[in-house]
Amino acid sequence: MKQTERVQTLEYAIRDVSAEARKLVAQGKELIWLNIGDPNKFDFATPPNIVEAFIKAASTNKSFYSESQGIVPLREAIVEKEKKINGAKNLTIDDVHVTAGISEGIMFLFGSMLSPGDEVLIPGPSYPSYSAFPKFYDAKAITYRTISDDNWQPDEDDIRKKVTPKTKAILIINPNNPTGAVYREKELKNIVDIAGEFDLPIIADEIYDRLTLDQKFIGMPSIAKDVPLFMMNGFSKVYLMPGWRVGYCYIQDPEDKIRDIFNGIIKLGRLRLCVNTPAQYGCVEALTGPQDHIKETVAKLRKRRDLIYKRLNEIDRISTEKPEAAFYIFPKIENLGKYSSDKEFVLALLREEGVVSVFGSGFDKVYGKGHLRLVFLSPEKIIEDAMDRLERFMKRI
Ligand SMILES: Cc1ncc(COP(=O)(O)O)c(C=O)c1O
Repeated sequence: MKQTERVQTLEYAIRDVSAEARKLVAQGKELIWLNIGDPNKFDFATPPNIVEAFIKAASTNKSFYSESQGIVPLREAIVEKEKKINGAKNLTIDDVHVTAGISEGIMFLFGSMLSPGDEVLIPGPSYPSYSAFPKFYDAKAITYRTISDDNWQPDEDDIRKKVTPKTKAILIINPNNPTGAVYREKELKNIVDIAGEFDLPIIADEIYDRLTLDQKFIGMPSIAKDVPLFMMNGFSKVYLMPGWRVGYCYIQDPEDKIRDIFNGIIKLGRLRLCVNTPAQYGCVEALTGPQDHIKETVAKLRKRRDLIYKRLNEIDRISTEKPEAAFYIFPKIENLGKYSSDKEFVLALLREEGVVSVFGSGFDKVYGKGHLRLVFLSPEKIIEDAMDRLERFMKRI
């Protein structure tokens, strides 16, 4: 038997490169992994108070199936955090749904929102799940331009041009993966205006909200006015808990326009029963306990960002904007040498120099083309080594 066509055509560039890298590891090659945005694979770890809360929950039999929408103390903590940090208005626990990471939230949201043939506008380049899941539901993700020379800010004219009668929502990822951009207030307001004009909801992924390195972050709920919002967030990055698989989705919906879609998310949530219950208790501690690790994480990332930014711009035929948040940098390769695509370039860099990166076109075939995504979670010494290898590779090709 064969897998369905809808599954056959799914792509996930980040893991595609890892599969090739693992083959090399099996042959005994040592690699430098700059491809996966997982802080816990490097010198970052879940804060111990969060781990203890998890152990306590598990050892006191808090291992029942929880409410599908998420345990009440966690939804309460999410409401408080989102009001305080991202300016959410009139949020209650009924507007929040806990999911197994944002990844499950994307699956539920698009499952409830998109019918075959519908469109959703997403930034180009973009985190791959936002283009893969619409396709899975026989709908379409249409990428709008983000402007590389303007530190990857969204191009409002392009968004406006691409709205059609089939458009169901506009997505922003802020701070952004893969570009590290933080959207300015003016840009956010422009997107709110466009959404208002066309009567569309905004989906805003703010998973890197507290990992800004210098630019001030403004949460979409604080400026959205009457425009309905689907907000996507989680614990994987800021709380250093990627393998715990907890995230959440909430709505801000002053005119009751998207409640029905949110109810669809709740329905899908019930089908999978619940998110790991002890892990949810760990997340309560993450939001309500000490937050000191965030400052430390940001300080470490800032140093690594400064180093990789400097080294990349010193390499001939490579240029890059300075990421303002998260742990990704998205340099442009001015000339791919003998390689006909960024994918071939990335695979050759992997095979010849042992540096694992992701090809830009994996994040968008048009706006990501000719770029690389590198993760700067590694300690400085490793980043230096990787940059030496990349420099040598560029000279050779
Ligand atoms: C922008 C963005 N959204 C969502 C995710 C996935 O998050 P989760 O671990 O909550 O599923 C990632 C992971 O890299 C991401 O970069």
